[in-house]
Amino acid sequence: MGTEILVTGATGTVGSHVVSALADTDVSFKAGVRDPTAGDWPENCEPIAFDFERPETWGFAFDGIDTLFLLRPPSVGRDRLVAAVDAAIRMGVEHVTYLSVLGAARNPLLPHRRLERHLETSGATYTFLRASYFMQNLSEIHAPEIREHDEVFVPAGTGAVSFVDARDVGAVAALTMREPGHEDESYDLTGPEALDFETVAERFSDVLGRPVTYTDPSSVAFVRRMYARGVPLRFAVLMLGIYAPARFGRAGRVEDDVERLLDRPATSLSTFVSDYREVWEADE
Ligand SMILES: NC(=O)c1ccc[n+]([C@@H]2O[C@H](COP(=O)([O-])OP(=O)(O)OC[C@H]3O[C@@H](n4cnc5c(N)ncnc54)[C@H](OP(=O)(O)O)[C@@H]3O)[C@@H](O)[C@H]2O)c1
Repeated sequence: MGTEILVTGATGTVGSHVVSALADTDVSFKAGVRDPTAGDWPENCEPIAFDFERPETWGFAFDGIDTLFLLRPPSVGRDRLVAAVDAAIRMGVEHVTYLSVLGAARNPLLPHRRLERHLETSGATYTFLRASYFMQNLSEIHAPEIREHDEVFVPAGTGAVSFVDARDVGAVAALTMREPGHEDESYDLTGPEALDFETVAERFSDVLGRPVTYTDPSSVAFVRRMYARGVPLRFAVLMLGIYAPARFGRAGRVEDDVERLLDRPATSLSTFVSDYREVWEADE
């Protein structure tokens, strides 16, 4: 297992950390990216052209691969993803580590669960990584409000969230592809604690040394502000849906799979904020 690995979404939030985790090993692997001429890649990584939307790239990308790290980019439809996975398995992929979401097991209508079900009967072995909300949402999509307005601007009400660091998700993904024992397993990947957004703002204040507040925007205020700063309307509305479980108090489950698999505690939000603090420092 894990002799020929292909990482999809290798430039993204989790995929980039799968690449980093594999870079620290003696495994050679491939990164399937839409533009293989761009970016810096570790010595043991070969970037190759791969696009879910361009089946003509699949044959070369899947050739000789036995282990696949799979995620569904937000813009890619389910049918495309299924067709690509089926092609990969036909070409010899034996194991798929799939980035899913926490709670997928209990929600048969969720697209992630539907893909999981497809993988369960695909003939390949699988590892499902059911991840909680990424801490990186705070350093990516929500960063401008924290940096420019000292404001955590997320439509999550008073619900708590068991944020996980995508670095931990990447490390677990790498592990499941390099060593045996993770076949047909599902892991719930959360951080070490569930935090409501008042507490998230407090952690930012403590680490950054300036007051950051949670303003708990209404749905309308959230969509309006996101749209005004250039986020496509469709994506802003989608985010409301993504935060609905948090708003309804259903995103706070904490599990110990990260700690158990990595043999160290899951990364805390305070550590994450400290490690990435320059993201939220205002430009001088
Ligand atoms: N955000 C959260 O809190 C959270 C939590 C749990 C699970 N998830 C799940 O995580 C998944 C997304 O993972 P992510 O956040 O790591 O992704 P991401 O940061 O949005 O990155 C998407 C990646 O997919 C690539 N990509 C886009 N279109 C492609 C195409 N047509 N063909 C091939 N590659 C393409 C992008 O590459 P380019 O460089 O070419 O654009 C990029 O590397 C989703 O299924 C989401 O539901 C998210």
